[in-house]
Amino acid sequence: MPGSKAIGIAVIGCGTIGRIRAVLAKQHAAVGWLGLCDRDENIGRRLATDVAADMFTTDVAQLVARPEVDAVIVATDENEHERPAVLAASAGHALFVEKPLATTAAASRRVLDAIEAAEVDAVVGYTQRFRRRFLAAKARLEGGAVGEVTTVVTRAFMNRMVPLATLRRTELRTTLTPMVVSGTHSVDLCLWLMGDKTPERVYARSVDRVLGVHGTKDATLGVVTMADGTLWSMNISWALPTVWPGSVYGLEVGIVGTSGVIDIEDTHRDLVLASEFPQGGGYEPEGFAPDAMRHVDFLTSYPPGDEYAGQFWGPMREETNAWFARVVSGLATPHATAVDAHRALLVCLGMDEAATRGEEIKLQA
Ligand SMILES: NC(=O)c1ccc[n+]([C@@H]2O[C@H](COP(=O)([O-])OP(=O)(O)OC[C@H]3O[C@@H](n4cnc5c(N)ncnc54)[C@H](O)[C@@H]3O)[C@@H](O)[C@H]2O)c1
Repeated sequence: MPGSKAIGIAVIGCGTIGRIRAVLAKQHAAVGWLGLCDRDENIGRRLATDVAADMFTTDVAQLVARPEVDAVIVATDENEHERPAVLAASAGHALFVEKPLATTAAASRRVLDAIEAAEVDAVVGYTQRFRRRFLAAKARLEGGAVGEVTTVVTRAFMNRMVPLATLRRTELRTTLTPMVVSGTHSVDLCLWLMGDKTPERVYARSVDRVLGVHGTKDATLGVVTMADGTLWSMNISWALPTVWPGSVYGLEVGIVGTSGVIDIEDTHRDLVLASEFPQGGGYEPEGFAPDAMRHVDFLTSYPPGDEYAGQFWGPMREETNAWFARVVSGLATPHATAVDAHRALLVCLGMDEAATRGEEIKLQA
């Protein structure tokens, strides 16, 4: 139906990611009403003006109580998901929460309980699932192309700009480990690719030589044993220097099965820019300036996608628009559910705990 406007969307958190989602909502034919909330009035009102939002408030409860709202996007800082997510679920709204679901197991459980009690559909922003390469791999794995998966090797490399930008916005930093904030993307992706396997035990070690002074760790390397004996080596460093050409995330995943293998190279070295002029690009939230000039850039290493001509292109567009279709028509989509996100958090926290204790631990169910 041309011009049909069906649903009302609320976006809570109007920063980098909330802005991308709100712009996509405004551009989508199925969205007829858009309300915004941010605790920072300047950031929120600026976005409200840019997208001609129907309302702006600094009060989360006021926004989710509006009768126009059908579905809510929670795009607040990692430590700030619980209250808006619980309020939105309790009001009966479909929910899209940015990763991680929460930063502690208890908060994540409370969000999940609120979602389950209200029986609302809730998904979490594991945007990488919407990359064509991972969808193609998933389809082959589900089709049995490699047989039974026995071994998975995951290596995530990240530019330290991400933790520096992330840590800057809060004093509550002990929860913001490389696993909980960013390794979680690879954890969700690999658990999803592996299919119906339950993580059971984990051993891990961490190092904090560079980022320890900022209240986090540089890297965590671990081995997860699944209930069926599958071994998964999960490793992340988010301490690569600012001048590393990958501005955000580079990933390698090897999945070995009884009858085949899928080897995924996602380091973005296939699209290299070198310039005499300093290059921006990547994750640059409000008020963050990199500590060094970057002249070489692996383009497309910013996982959500890239801007061109004032519009945002890439997996976050696919993910957000697919969610609007899910809200409108109940379309089955590959989004991570809140249950998936809770499971991913428990793996990340388990790796952190195993590294702290220096021994293998049993993961919480
Ligand atoms: N899906 C992805 O690929 C992806 C990529 C980057 C970040 N993220 C996630 O998105 C979330 C937001 O990250 P960002 O980069 O947009 O951060 P940001 O700092 O740019 O924006 C967060 C906004 O939330 C607001 N806010 C914080 N607490 C609030 C509260 N209690 N009530 C109302 N507003 C509040 C802040 O004022 C800020 O404007 C994080 O969970 C992050 O991990 C997801």
